[in-house]
Amino acid sequence: MKKKNQESAQNAKAHIGIDREKDKHRQGTLIKFKKGLNMPRKRKGKKMKTIDLFAGVGGIRIGFEKAGFETAFANDFDKTCKDTYDRNFSAPKLDTRSIWDIPIKELPEFDLLLGGFPCQAFSIAGYRKGFKDEKGRGNLFFRIAEILEEKTPKAFLLENVKNLRGHDNGKTFAIIQKTLSDLGYHTKEKVLNSMTHANIPQNRERIFIVGFRDKKQCDKFEFPEQIPLTRSFRDFTANEADDKYYYNDKPLYKRIKDDINSEETVYQWRRQYVRTNKKGVVPTLTANMGTGGHNVPIIKNHKGIRKLTPKECFLLQGFPEKFKLGHLADSKLYHQAGNSVTVPLIERIATQMKMVLD
Ligand SMILES: C[S@@+](CC[C@H](N)C(=O)[O-])C[C@H]1O[C@@H](n2cnc3c(N)ncnc32)[C@H](O)[C@@H]1O
Repeated sequence: MKKKNQESAQNAKAHIGIDREKDKHRQGTLIKFKKGLNMPRKRKGKKMKTIDLFAGVGGIRIGFEKAGFETAFANDFDKTCKDTYDRNFSAPKLDTRSIWDIPIKELPEFDLLLGGFPCQAFSIAGYRKGFKDEKGRGNLFFRIAEILEEKTPKAFLLENVKNLRGHDNGKTFAIIQKTLSDLGYHTKEKVLNSMTHANIPQNRERIFIVGFRDKKQCDKFEFPEQIPLTRSFRDFTANEADDKYYYNDKPLYKRIKDDINSEETVYQWRRQYVRTNKKGVVPTLTANMGTGGHNVPIIKNHKGIRKLTPKECFLLQGFPEKFKLGHLADSKLYHQAGNSVTVPLIERIATQMKMVLD
């Protein structure tokens, strides 16, 4: 097993084109960094620049900008995200080419790469065949690796689902870690929950991987500490909502009304039964909410039983009240909210990164 992992790590190197010559060069760069000869000096008042990859609707961007970073470039190939994204950010606007179609040379200079990349399964078998997996899609993690290799930013933040770590018995994650390390990055990772680490009443566990070129910075970096949850979902939901969100006159009403009996709890319809969540907390908002209509969390109020509105889902991801939603179908908006991140959690991580990079 160990040998297999070593082999695959070797392959990882080959795939992203790391060769000894470059390694030597890179080491040289690191040594110079240590001596402080070519350590880029932070110009006073200049903000560190980020690129927002797999940007969705910009949740990671908001968190980093709140922490004092500036966005130099944003990309996501989902055109419906562009509608929401461009309404909320004046510049840079969302570039909607596939990340594979953007020549890396074209990217502006930046200090940090940010990306909540989609978790595509990649088996070691498929991976040995090269960059492209069996279905011919490139694995997006390797595109990130290529960008890191060519642009050598100071640091990065990657976000993904919690079980990326356990995928394929940990082999996928081992490849990711080895690849990042071969590229000259020191990394730390942690699973954080929005309800324990961001004072947002959503039970959402995600893995965050941070990487720094400078080992000392990585050693110094600490993920944010747990903080008390002082708010309930009720602090994020409106008293009134459009009639279309209510189940009162819908066929499902009869089947769910007896089980949905508290105004302090969030429920979900799971095809055959009503699931009750932890008091005051919303379950993980997911990208498939709203498709099929039944996965959107349900609440009860004085007027009846209804699902959360798209706006409430964005608020329960910690998006600012003033965040504008486009004129898109609700299903698209639910998808965007569920696919995004919990903004205050990102801000807390970004603040910790800034502290060690400054
Ligand atoms: C998990 S979502 C990230 C959401 C984002 N963090 C946010 O705050 O909204 C992953 C995103 O990757 C985008 N994506 C997938 N493949 C892509 C590609 N080849 N090029 C560019 N974007 C891609 C998807 O459209 C999706 O919005």
